[in-house]
Amino acid sequence: MDVRRLTDRLGGLAFGGDYNPEQWDAQVWKEDDELMRRARVNLATVGVFSWALMEPEEGRYDFGWLDDHLDRLHADGVAVDLATPTASPPPWFTLAHPDAMPVGPDGSRLTHGSRDTYCLTAPAYRRAARRIAAALAERYGDHPALALWHVHNEYVTLCWCDHTAAAFRVWLRARHGSLDALNEAWGTAFWSQRYTSWEQILPPRASQWHRNPGQCLDFSRFWSDEALTAYREQRDAIRAHSDRPVTTNLMLPSYQNLDLWAFGREVDLVAVDHYPSAPGIGAAADTAFGADRARSFGGGAPWLLMEQGANTVYEAGRILGKEPGDILRHSLGHIARGSEGALFFQWRQSRAGAEQWHSAMVPHAGPDSRVFREVTATGEAVARLGELAGSTVRAEVAVLHDSDAWWAMQVDGLPSPELDYHAALRRAHRALWDAGLTVDFAHPEHDLDRYRLVVAPALFLLSDAGAENLRRYVADGGTLLVQHAGGAVDERLHARLGGFPAAPLREALGIRVEEHRPLGRDEEVMLSDGSTATAWSECLRTEGAETLAAYTHGMLAGRPALTRHGFGTGHGWYLSTRLDDPGYAALVGRLLAEAGAAPELPGLPPGVEAVTRHAPDGRSWHVLINHLADAVPLPQPGHDLLTGGPLGELPPGGCAVLRTH
Ligand code: GLA
Repeated sequence: MDVRRLTDRLGGLAFGGDYNPEQWDAQVWKEDDELMRRARVNLATVGVFSWALMEPEEGRYDFGWLDDHLDRLHADGVAVDLATPTASPPPWFTLAHPDAMPVGPDGSRLTHGSRDTYCLTAPAYRRAARRIAAALAERYGDHPALALWHVHNEYVTLCWCDHTAAAFRVWLRARHGSLDALNEAWGTAFWSQRYTSWEQILPPRASQWHRNPGQCLDFSRFWSDEALTAYREQRDAIRAHSDRPVTTNLMLPSYQNLDLWAFGREVDLVAVDHYPSAPGIGAAADTAFGADRARSFGGGAPWLLMEQGANTVYEAGRILGKEPGDILRHSLGHIARGSEGALFFQWRQSRAGAEQWHSAMVPHAGPDSRVFREVTATGEAVARLGELAGSTVRAEVAVLHDSDAWWAMQVDGLPSPELDYHAALRRAHRALWDAGLTVDFAHPEHDLDRYRLVVAPALFLLSDAGAENLRRYVADGGTLLVQHAGGAVDERLHARLGGFPAAPLREALGIRVEEHRPLGRDEEVMLSDGSTATAWSECLRTEGAETLAAYTHGMLAGRPALTRHGFGTGHGWYLSTRLDDPGYAALVGRLLAEAGAAPELPGLPPGVEAVTRHAPDGRSWHVLINHLADAVPLPQPGHDLLTGGPLGELPPGGCAVLRTH
């Protein structure tokens, strides 16, 4: 279906957030109308948690209240991102279908009283989800307020119940074809785990000791496929009645249960929720990390920041408030990297209920508040950026990201607890961000030719096709850095035999790793270039590569730690340990210099972010964010869309969007 671009319908970039009017009364709705106008809100996400109101009992719908809100929003010039409410089934659903409640790995079944209380594989749940998606689409498919469909909310819930076991077996039959192949893939010859019928196979539930790693990896793959199928079912039910774009809000957390590349191929535009997990400058780096991933999962196409916090988000172990100015800086951090707007969770802070302390655009204190003033200023800023709609971002460097590799580093029985996929990716991105580069993420089997530099920080699992692709990338002139424990196992989690990493990649790197030597938590090793390293070391020998730094002590003394190999017309670098921050930053600097990759807008000091958005017709804009406490002169003064005038200097903490044409 040819879907119309979201921003065509909005007439510019999106600004707004989750709107839950059912928590309030008519007087507050009236104030909402007025405040949304003031804040330049043009898109509201409605219905995410409204199942109990939309379908008060099984099969009986009540949409009258929703009609009123959609008509009211439309009259106010606010378009609607209409959600299917399937992330939060009402109590009647649980009582009618107790088998559709999620079961943990230990066999305990949850009850209702929170949200996400469903099992994705339960037939009753899937039927109910398809039904309400179709009912909503039939009623609102061509409503004039409707700009976007929002399926579900963050597919994050896992389940280990009997429905899941049955669905897992179907998936395994399709993947492996025969029990023999499955037994071989999972290495069931060890610990007497051989399966002799499909019915014996279970999801990886709680067990006595290490669970089978192949079973765990396949379960992760299965679950992601199952979630994608559930998404597709709702999407297709909607498409039968509506030509508006359909998406789901993906969560970008530090855990992983979806193959976001696969979701990126199925949504009409990628939408993500992002809550920084670090304070201060770390929040800005984290924003860039999230935004660069979001853009990459959609193949570089425009995407949408569906949720961010206006201030504090309270969650176990994470209480991070926004500093004054962060609402604009973080919103622009996303827009700079291709988001078609900036939305929040949620419009008005709940007075009661489970998330009453999560921040919102209109806080408990009301509109006379710092947060609402900053929200309004950000809304005004975003409204001035309409000409950026549809423009995209270019990157010369890529960090490799593969869900299989991530899942492979979450199984039981790994050689070290220090193998942390997410932390390794974040660190690689951060070093490139600090150096002023715009970064794409890419899959190891993607065409990488457009990148001058590719960094593979945690490619523990690497498929044969991926290894060959990386070999070819280097042979054809690319600069590649592979980091420790890379290419240790294949797509079945089987160890690579005869030396690491996988053979074709070894050829490009000119090395052979003979032994992994994980380091203890407090252990540190010295390298001959003066840097230090932790977590991991390797006994390797060069097979054509030059040694740039060697270990200095212990049994690895004199052995290569960092190597570089000219191969074809490119260079394959290998780092066999986790360098300290200055050492890693220096290495990234050398790699960028060798690859000839540089910031798109040179001449800015560290701490000033600059990303360029390019329109297909040649127009472009530099989005600039100053994270420093000092004013910074601009290398190329220009017309700033935010102030509507010429700008030669960025104020402390200030932002600008410079038209370059
Ligand atoms: C998420 C959810 C929202 C809400 C916010 C809280 O990402 O999608 O429903 O829980 O976080 O900040």
